[in-house]
Amino acid sequence: MTPADVSPEQPPPAPPSAEDLARRDERWQIRVRNLHKTFGPQHVLRGVNLDIERGRTNIIIGGSGQGKSVLMKHLMGLLKPDEGQIWVDGEDVVPFDDRQMGVLRRKFGMVFQYAALFDSMNVVENIAFPLIERYKLSRDEIMERVRDLLRRLDLAGVPGIEQKFPPELSGGQRKRVGLARALIDRPEILLYDEPTTGLDPVATKNVDDMIRRTADEFGVTSVVISHDMASTFRIGDRISMLAHGIIIVSGPPAEVLASRRPELREFIETSGLVPREEAQA
Ligand SMILES: Nc1ncnc2c1ncn2[C@@H]1O[C@H](COP(=O)(O)OP(=O)(O)OP(=O)(O)O)[C@@H](O)[C@H]1O
Ligand SMILES: [Mg+2]
Repeated sequence: MTPADVSPEQPPPAPPSAEDLARRDERWQIRVRNLHKTFGPQHVLRGVNLDIERGRTNIIIGGSGQGKSVLMKHLMGLLKPDEGQIWVDGEDVVPFDDRQMGVLRRKFGMVFQYAALFDSMNVVENIAFPLIERYKLSRDEIMERVRDLLRRLDLAGVPGIEQKFPPELSGGQRKRVGLARALIDRPEILLYDEPTTGLDPVATKNVDDMIRRTADEFGVTSVVISHDMASTFRIGDRISMLAHGIIIVSGPPAEVLASRRPELREFIETSGLVPREEAQA
């Protein structure tokens, strides 16, 4: 049994040594240890320990305001912790300077919680932005990649989609354009901050399928923040719950479902995922 597979009710394992963490680990692509982050008087992250499994879909759940987005921003260096370590492929990235961070970020694609598109650019320009910034691809190559993603994300059928500007899109369309932009550079690690919030059930399932397909076809490591318990158990290989500034439960879906942690029980029961009696059994 590896440290991260310890069942939720057991005391936390002895932390791996610095040497363990520094080893490029085939199984764990990202390892977070004792991460703390304070904003003014607010101690948001209070010693987060989290392992992200390579090539798998890793889901982070937790109530609103618990620090999920803050945690995710640390993973790709958009925020610096007050204390703690983040190992990506065996390197502690917290001390990285701007240049090293720039290189590191190329491993990542991020789908932000609120799409974060450029309103002054049309759909094609938004999606192609990371490519234009970094590489000298021909216009044809860029358009080929953009159109492939529009098709895969069920956007190709929207009349005039390529020339539309973000304010002219529906919420769900904006979300998928944000997803396309994160995917265009074919990153190794994809971070999704609530990719399905606000989508209807069909669009939710399409985005779920897309996340799974991307993981399976390209071997991408996915980290997905989700409120949606049905999605979580549909696509997750590992599920971790953030509460009170720490990860209180982490493991494969069946193990997490069996956890007795009250915060988790409440989350599962209110989602209607399992009948109340069964949830309490
Ligand atoms: N840049 C910041 N400056 C100050 N406080 C911040 C900042 N970013 C986040 N916070 C605070 O940290 C807490 C956690 O925020 P975060 O966005 O991570 O929550 P969340 O778990 O993603 O919630 P939700 O599910 O609603 O998106 C919040 O109380 C928020 O106000
Ligand atoms: Mg959030």
